[in-house]
Amino acid sequence: MSRPASSRLCPGRIVVAEEAIQKRVRELGEAIAGDYAGRRPVLVGVLQGAFLFMADLIRAISIDVATDFIGLASYGASTHSTGVVRLTSDLSIPIEGRDVLIVEDILETGTTLAYLKRMLEARRPQSVRICVLLDKPRGERAVTVDYVGFTIPNVFVVGYGLDYDGLYRNLPYVAALESADEAR
Ligand code: IMP
Ligand code: MG
Repeated sequence: MSRPASSRLCPGRIVVAEEAIQKRVRELGEAIAGDYAGRRPVLVGVLQGAFLFMADLIRAISIDVATDFIGLASYGASTHSTGVVRLTSDLSIPIEGRDVLIVEDILETGTTLAYLKRMLEARRPQSVRICVLLDKPRGERAVTVDYVGFTIPNVFVVGYGLDYDGLYRNLPYVAALESADEAR
């Protein structure tokens, strides 16, 4: 049977399985609850990529937390960072004096998180820390993160909130984006 020859990209090899994500998210939740005991942090999810991670993470945290979201865009329909970050929607609450924990899907060059951390620090919070589900090591970086779910190889991944051109966020696992032929 012939398949239309194309270079269409789609989810292929699984990089982080669903069970591994769920287990690690519980561990992160416990660590965060311990570190912030007696405080009431604001978890700031970075839209859209972090919304699934955020939803699972807060349910693994046993202390009181507030939540908010911020919209940033750095990628268009491409698998390469443009290096330009744009604020697409702001927080809905003031964070002055609060302990802020940024929740992000993936750290690559660090451009996005460095920009966001600087922006939030300017609002005089008590503290700003960062929790990322995935860390794709990329040499020198402008930012350090406090909580990391998984360190992954330098491949473009989709699933569990991460998209390619708006698609594949709904996968319950993280997979490498591959050409349709490779992925069979
Ligand atoms: P950075 O600014 O280079 O650290 O890139 C981080 C941002 O790029 C993240 O917020 C993601 O939205 C996006 N990104 C980086 N790598 C991937 C990937 O493998 N899949 C999907 N999005 C990615
Ligand atoms: Mg993102």
